[in-house]
Amino acid sequence: MTSVGIDAIEIWTGNLVLDLPNTFAPVKGEDPEKYTKGLGLYTSSFPDVYEDIVTMGANAAKRLMVRKGLTPDDIGRIDVATESAFDNSKPVSTYIAGCLEQVFEGDFRHANKGERKFACIAGTQSLDDAYNWIKAGRNRGRAALVIATDTALYERGDPGEATQGAGAVAMLIDEDPDIVELSTEQGYGSMDETDFLKPNQQFPSVDGKRSMQVYLARMREALEDYESVAGRTHPDNFEYIPFHTPFPGMVRKAALLGFRHMSRDTEIEDELAEEIGRQPREEQFDTWDEYEEAIRAYMDELKTTDAYREWYDRVIDPTLDISSVVGNWYTGSVHIARTSALKAAAEEGTDMVGKKLLVGSYGSGAQAEIHAETVQENWLEEMDALNIDEQLDARYEISFDEYELIHDVHNHEKEVEVEELTQPEEEFVFTGWGRMNERR
Ligand code: CAA
Repeated sequence: MTSVGIDAIEIWTGNLVLDLPNTFAPVKGEDPEKYTKGLGLYTSSFPDVYEDIVTMGANAAKRLMVRKGLTPDDIGRIDVATESAFDNSKPVSTYIAGCLEQVFEGDFRHANKGERKFACIAGTQSLDDAYNWIKAGRNRGRAALVIATDTALYERGDPGEATQGAGAVAMLIDEDPDIVELSTEQGYGSMDETDFLKPNQQFPSVDGKRSMQVYLARMREALEDYESVAGRTHPDNFEYIPFHTPFPGMVRKAALLGFRHMSRDTEIEDELAEEIGRQPREEQFDTWDEYEEAIRAYMDELKTTDAYREWYDRVIDPTLDISSVVGNWYTGSVHIARTSALKAAAEEGTDMVGKKLLVGSYGSGAQAEIHAETVQENWLEEMDALNIDEQLDARYEISFDEYELIHDVHNHEKEVEVEELTQPEEEFVFTGWGRMNERR
């Protein structure tokens, strides 16, 4: 059967950057180390006045199409994943297609367009939809364009303000992919939750601490569900494990949970037994609370061991490089984590062909999905073609006052006229509601 997966990736960051420990924390009266050591964040990307989810998504997609030599005729499906949509009827993919039609020959009349919503996991759900569409043979030889685009802004003063970000990831899903093949097996953990909501409001209502617990609970269920179809996992089966990364500190918790789960009843648990004892087993305890308390104590010990730290540094840490300097991109976040890991492997000269990734996606509300990916032969050329470092370096650093103005500009409830802080270069720009996004 034909392999299907990610054939190309392009990333587009918001053009502004906010220094969290040195600019944001001091004004908020917070210790900079809460950001660097606690949350694992150094800087965040923000959209300039002329950027929004459409321009960022269109810019990423345009770069991808130009680089791969594609025209609209090569693409049979455009799905946008976002939790920052501004239109409850017309999908963001139609706006993006409209932009792309300004610069490519031909049009997307033949393409099925849609918008996927399930908080941050929608990007992965769109990948799954594209995968299923191709596997079902409905693609007529065409590829799918999946675009995850968000401006992840929180109300000022909300604890989430520390974890903001803005950017887009465009991915081409096709047969015989150049980067990764997706596995057929998937595991889910899904439950009606109210940890993070945006019911017809621009900024989310978040119960931050609860959202972290829900993330971990659903991720554990997804891992168990994945194992029920794909068989037992082992920490050393995967070269990298990219997780949804609202901030790197969240992934530190998910990674510890994953390592404990995957290493139970293995030689790793045997080797660690003398140092920290064996993992607690449910049947040893009278109540679930006592069992959970014992697990927590075990994990506190586990994270100090050389075995865990070596694994974390090798398998998890490289997935966080980009996220730690761009913040949360919601639907794009897990796809940044995958890219970050592969980019690190390319820089280190690691041979990744045939190696496996385990990808842990999450969306509040809430659902986690685990699937595996196998790295393909042309992955290195694709990573070498990324210009993310240049984009990150080119961002304009904003002061705290500029941050507040920009935050107001992107607050749909406020009318704020502010001059753009950067000059758009050969990119789509937002020119006002009801008007077409134009290329300048
Ligand atoms: N030095 C070192 N570490 C420090 C520190 C210091 N001076 N000060 C604080 N820290 C540590 C804290 O101990 C904490 O780490 P642990 O969780 O490991 O204990 C970390 O820094 C954060 O500190 P606080 O908990 O005090 O921070 P906070 O109260 O401001 O809130 C938050 C943190 C709840 C994550 C908040 O930023 C938030 O609400 N974020 C938005 C919601 C979110 O991202 N949830 C994640 C799961 S939901 C999801 O993934 C979907 C999505 O994308 C939103």
